[in-house]
Amino acid sequence: MDRIIIFDTTLRDGEQSPGVSLNVDEKLQIGRQLEKLGIDVLEAGFPVASPGDFSGVKRLADELKGVQVAALARASEKDIDAAWEAIKGGVQPRIHTFLATSDIHMKYKLRKSRDEVLEMASRAVAYAARYTSNVEFSAEDASRSDLDFLCKVFQAVIDAGATTVNFPDTVGYAIPWDFARMIEYVVENTPNIHKAVLSVHCHNDLGLATANVLSALNAGARQVECTINGIGERAGNTAMEEVVMAIRTRKDLFQFDTSIETRHITATSRLVSRLTGMVVQPNKAIVGANAFAHESGIHQDGVLKERTTYEIIDPRDIGLSSGKLVLGKHSGRHALKARLEEMGYRLSESELDNVFASFKSLADKKKEIYPEDIEALVAEKLLRIPDRYRLVYLHVAGGSGIRPTATVAIEVDGQERATACMGAGPIDAAFKAVEKLTETRSNLLRFSVNAITGGTDAQGEVSVSLEEDGVDVTGQGADPDIITASVRAYLNALNRLEYSKRKGDGDRKRASL
Ligand code: KIV
Ligand code: ZN
Repeated sequence: MDRIIIFDTTLRDGEQSPGVSLNVDEKLQIGRQLEKLGIDVLEAGFPVASPGDFSGVKRLADELKGVQVAALARASEKDIDAAWEAIKGGVQPRIHTFLATSDIHMKYKLRKSRDEVLEMASRAVAYAARYTSNVEFSAEDASRSDLDFLCKVFQAVIDAGATTVNFPDTVGYAIPWDFARMIEYVVENTPNIHKAVLSVHCHNDLGLATANVLSALNAGARQVECTINGIGERAGNTAMEEVVMAIRTRKDLFQFDTSIETRHITATSRLVSRLTGMVVQPNKAIVGANAFAHESGIHQDGVLKERTTYEIIDPRDIGLSSGKLVLGKHSGRHALKARLEEMGYRLSESELDNVFASFKSLADKKKEIYPEDIEALVAEKLLRIPDRYRLVYLHVAGGSGIRPTATVAIEVDGQERATACMGAGPIDAAFKAVEKLTETRSNLLRFSVNAITGGTDAQGEVSVSLEEDGVDVTGQGADPDIITASVRAYLNALNRLEYSKRKGDGDRKRASL
């Protein structure tokens, strides 16, 4: 069995998804979960891009001791210095430097010749190697590069000290069998390739990222760069859960192993979705809400007789618990604690009291409490950033023939304020009231409502993305009443804006990538 290195870039490439902006505390929560999941390398950000990115990467490198933390840097001394400064407190920290090698990028973006790029790449790697022997070089847009030139670049950077060389399909252009041919070509024509780990990084523009990665592994790659739920630039990156479960499910075809504890996949997927506000499509492989749902009677009958008739993965392998563990209003503190521990949460007594109180009030409104509901409660109660705005009271009047009106009371810095507004619908009315009370002027970028579980008593999970002065944030709220959930999500987003302003970590960095 060959060990495949899992390099997770949820917090770097994933955070480049439009509308996603995580603060330092959220990055740390995701980082801890990724560490628990068992990834090998965690790319935490792009330190030179902003003070917020720098402090996020530094905090992760300083606090996570079970994983190598990597930082991204362009092929320049300034970027590499910032990357090293941010990660130097970590365990086996990695500098990841990159430079484009395709003619199209060199001509139009870099305005540099092949010789200049070759020289810049090896100079950058040699510079990074003065700090650490753990240096990765990425040839951006490798899949559209001249392969002989690419092999020359890889040979030079390995000579300069790169211990990992990454072959990105930056624009998601590759087709599986052709991608395998390219990887084989690089393996055969880079004389010193055996001195480095060959990595791949695939984008999903043609929906082929996972297929391309699997082909590349077959052809000799041994590191996969991926994200949870496949989030990332444009159509996203390779989804980690898909690659890991494909390798595991088709052991007959892949003689590979990974260090991933697959039973943490579901919890990780939900945490990333909740904190980024990127909703997972229901039919998404492995982690979508319907991935293990059998609708047709023939399929249900088959699964009841023998699960493997229609299921190629045991849902418990990815941490999807069985229905028998559903809780209800008669469940006590002890049962909740056991369930939380099973889901990977270890709470202090006072945190447990806090979550238990909310659990009881939810159980009064909703008959069956699923793990997804409990996760939403934990997120609501414990994973919140410090709140400036807090919902105190909400009343809405709506229906046919009347103008929807919302009466809202919130606390602003501990002082209660109340008002009433009309709107096109109850949510519009409630949002207008919140805007008036908070005296804020943000732009609404996205609003989405999702039912966390099935049934009309399901909690609605709302995600609200806002933009103000170039800072974009996403807030979440969950409640069986979707208007309450919407107001909570809106207030959560406003609190995040406040937090970003205070910490200076909201400023975006896309322009520099
Ligand atoms: O897609 C890409 O090429 C990247 C590199 C920085 C590795 O994200
Ligand atoms: Zn990328």
